[in-house]
Amino acid sequence: MLELLILNGRRQRILEIGTSNGFSAIWIASALRRLGGTVPLTTLEREADKVEQARQNVERAGLGDLVRVLPGEATPLVASLEGPFDCVFFDADRVSAPEQLRLLLPKLTADALLLADNVLSHPAEIAGLLAAVEALPDFRSTVVPVGKGLLVACRTAQAAESAGS
Ligand SMILES: C[S@@+](CC[C@H](N)C(=O)[O-])C[C@H]1O[C@@H](n2cnc3c(N)ncnc32)[C@H](O)[C@@H]1O
Repeated sequence: MLELLILNGRRQRILEIGTSNGFSAIWIASALRRLGGTVPLTTLEREADKVEQARQNVERAGLGDLVRVLPGEATPLVASLEGPFDCVFFDADRVSAPEQLRLLLPKLTADALLLADNVLSHPAEIAGLLAAVEALPDFRSTVVPVGKGLLVACRTAQAAESAGS
């Protein structure tokens, strides 16, 4: 699903929050490779052993040039990132996601795609992020019942234009 959304939307400046061992990072980076992307996926992970596993797995997949694994706590890392990002995949602790979204808003492109895992498996924990996305006037969103439930939200050009007018 991630790969299809990235390929279809030709996403090229992607941030992932929550790397684990790099499984989704490999799917994202492989989509970037197909698109001829040159900006590596930035992916954030606070557990040092997972950072190491992810780096090894990504290298083994031949995608080391397209993935940048940043170690540490996601929220301060997000605050320090420059952007812009045209796609953000929230897949970390969920409770800190609303603050991360707030920090990211000025760094998102006009057509940004937001994705979040675990909408159906952890409804209470992710409620804050869903409410924050729902409150954004220029985003349209839906939940796709794939895996543990994926939030798909996109800033539409039309909504962005009317917001600016
Ligand atoms: C569900 S896993 C990520 C899975 C990965 N995206 C995939 O699909 O292959 C969540 C990861 O986020 C990390 N994590 C959770 N909260 C975090 C935070 N606040 N800052 C950094 N990493 C965090 C955890 O250590 C864990 O490895």
